[in-house]
Amino acid sequence: MGRAFVYVILGGGVAAGYAALEFTKKGVSNGELCIISEESVAPYERPALSKGFLLPEAPARLPAFHTCVGANEERLTPKWYKEHGIELILGTRVKSADIRRKTLLTAAGETISYKFLIIATGARALKLEEFGVSGSDAENVCYLRDLADATRLADVMQTSTGGNAVVIGGGYIGMEVAASLVINKINVSMVFPEPHCMGRLFTPKIASYYEEFYKSKGVNFVKGTVLSSFVFDPEGKVTGVDLKDGSSLPADLVVVGIGIRPNTGLFEGQLTLEKGGIKVNSLLQTSNSSVYAVGDVASFPVKIFGESRRLEHVDAARKSARHAVAAIMEPDTTPEFDYLPFFYSRVFSFSWQFYGDNLGEVIYFGDFSGTSFGAYWVHKGHLVGSFLEGGSKEEYEAIARVTRLKPAIDDLSELERQGLGFVVGL
Ligand code: FDA
Ligand code: NAD
Repeated sequence: MGRAFVYVILGGGVAAGYAALEFTKKGVSNGELCIISEESVAPYERPALSKGFLLPEAPARLPAFHTCVGANEERLTPKWYKEHGIELILGTRVKSADIRRKTLLTAAGETISYKFLIIATGARALKLEEFGVSGSDAENVCYLRDLADATRLADVMQTSTGGNAVVIGGGYIGMEVAASLVINKINVSMVFPEPHCMGRLFTPKIASYYEEFYKSKGVNFVKGTVLSSFVFDPEGKVTGVDLKDGSSLPADLVVVGIGIRPNTGLFEGQLTLEKGGIKVNSLLQTSNSSVYAVGDVASFPVKIFGESRRLEHVDAARKSARHAVAAIMEPDTTPEFDYLPFFYSRVFSFSWQFYGDNLGEVIYFGDFSGTSFGAYWVHKGHLVGSFLEGGSKEEYEAIARVTRLKPAIDDLSELERQGLGFVVGL
């Protein structure tokens, strides 16, 4: 049993949706392209799962957040794929890949062959079991990576109103889900090993701004420790957690967000890997010229920093996907991918954006006791990163534009004095 396509996108997440739209813009013919996805729904904007999807009133539900609404593009519903002659092979896991033969084998036993393959397999959530803690398959312990996880979390949340939640991890999932739990009137304790939240990006001063607000909403921060074990009732439901520092917390619900691992398994030993992902060149092409990799799974050259990075953010997934399609369809005219890293989050009524790299000295600006403030990172005499909370559209555009220029900074105190005016003026 088998089918043959010219173009196959493996994975049905954010990158897949944006790649599909780009294929149609570049003129793919009926029946030439398919998307194979383990998920049972067409590609959607994954960021909605920790935000709008968890709201108590009028929560976001599909089809409202299918790609590519996140970038103000068309919304690609299953009908759209049909109308464009794109085969959606859903609910289908690819269990092996043969790069030499250009074939994929699905769990159902079908062989799918391609001329060009785009790997967009994203990542999986790390499990507590990988850190030596067992029991995270209990019904009220939730991870959050896909729609099925989010649906389960929303269900458990509904039955936990007024109760206690423990959030394990102080990164993106931890911060966004904790805010959603508070909005759903659940008492939240956050447990993480670092001295402050968002350790990979925030400085202590930035972290403290958000932590103080979370505390004012009743969130209890338990820092510098990790879970040692779950406490269960006789039915196998978790009723609490024991921590390595010897303390315990009651729990009606536990949410775990302790990072991800890219889904590279199918290609290990067949393609070159780097930084935990699949190594690609500046056209998103892997070590095999018929195979491209995009999104969370790809380690690509970030020109502005002169080194390869694997970025776990939606903007990189969207743009790398579009670029790979352009490189496949218009190989002679597609330039190198020149990407400026962009991260953002929205919690409560906060909204921040970050561009570039958080390396070097930090210069703060704005009002840390008000609603708008920010920071620049200056490394080797150049501005390399910018963070802004509560900015206007024009201000966010300005920090992005100027960060890309990597302007020379001779006088840090002058940069501090000018603050946001520095980028608006350039
Ligand atoms: P993505 O994970 O979206 O898709 C991978 C797809 O491949 C899935 O459909 C999966 O089922 C499929 N797949 C994997 N292996 C397969 C196999 N063997 N066979 C078949 N299918 C397979 N970023 C940001 O910048 N701002 C934000 O606010 C957020 N918010 C956010 C919230 C939540 C809850 C999550 C989990 C993530 C975010 N992100 C984010 C991160 C962002 O969503 C992420 O970077 C992109 O989804 C990456 O897109 P990809 O297409 O690479 O992977
Ligand atoms: P993360 O890497 O942002 O944070 C992981 C956190 O886990 C760390 O901050 C640390 O506090 C904690 N941790 C690590 N090991 C631990 C352990 N043994 N016990 C307890 N805590 C531990 O990852 P995440 O929050 O799980 O997010 C998953 C993915 O989803 C990431 O790729 C992230 O970029 C993406 N995401 C992004 C956004 C956004 O960009 N706004 C929002 C949600 C999710």
